[in-house]
Amino acid sequence: MREPPAPGPESRPNRIAVLASGRGSNLQALLDAIAGGRLDADVVGVFSDRPTAPALQRVHASLRWSRDARAYARRSDFDDALAAAVAGAGPDWVVCAGYMRILGDAFLERFAGRILNIHPSLLPLYRGLRTHARALEAGDREHGASVHFVVPELDAGAVVAQARVPVLPGDDPATLARRVLAVEHPLLVAAVQLAAAGRIAERDATVLLDGHPLFTPLLLDSSGCLSPEPQ
Ligand code: GRF
Repeated sequence: MREPPAPGPESRPNRIAVLASGRGSNLQALLDAIAGGRLDADVVGVFSDRPTAPALQRVHASLRWSRDARAYARRSDFDDALAAAVAGAGPDWVVCAGYMRILGDAFLERFAGRILNIHPSLLPLYRGLRTHARALEAGDREHGASVHFVVPELDAGAVVAQARVPVLPGDDPATLARRVLAVEHPLLVAAVQLAAAGRIAERDATVLLDGHPLFTPLLLDSSGCLSPEPQ
């Protein structure tokens, strides 16, 4: 069953459900941008597979939902519970912000084309885990983060936008992760702003921006704006 998009205020698709498993700094970036008038959206719920996730504490208790995914006998049972809870919040978009569990097919089908994820690498490089260590092992001079549509294949959906950082001499995974995280926050805010304004969609594994195919991801500039990559 596919959920019809919930009408947002003034018909803008700006009701955002956030999925988070951990610290929640990306969620906090969204909350701060909303509070500061830089993001025209509402966080209508925060959902977690880990009841102890610090991310949950960043919003009022009425917006929190969590279940320990490990307590469910079948993966699909947790997925069904999560999907029902998210649908209950009536989101236009589902944003995975440090959500560390693979979403099942039923969930993806239900919210198809309306799920975004932030991933700490310049996709298609380094899908999955240990992205910072892998970039260092490969001797990359540049690393970064991507916001992409979520599809069944892990971290393989169409990329909306990216932010780049240099890899510096002496970096270790922790220093590089910190540098990447600093650009994740404005990147996620800017990408969610496009989503909440109804400006992006996904069709046939391609991002549409204002109805036109985007052949390379938008790039975050130093002022926190997204623009087409210079040719
Ligand atoms: C971020 O680096 C995100 O890209 C990755 O997990 C981390 C979550 O950080 N998927 P936070 O929970 O948003 O602070």
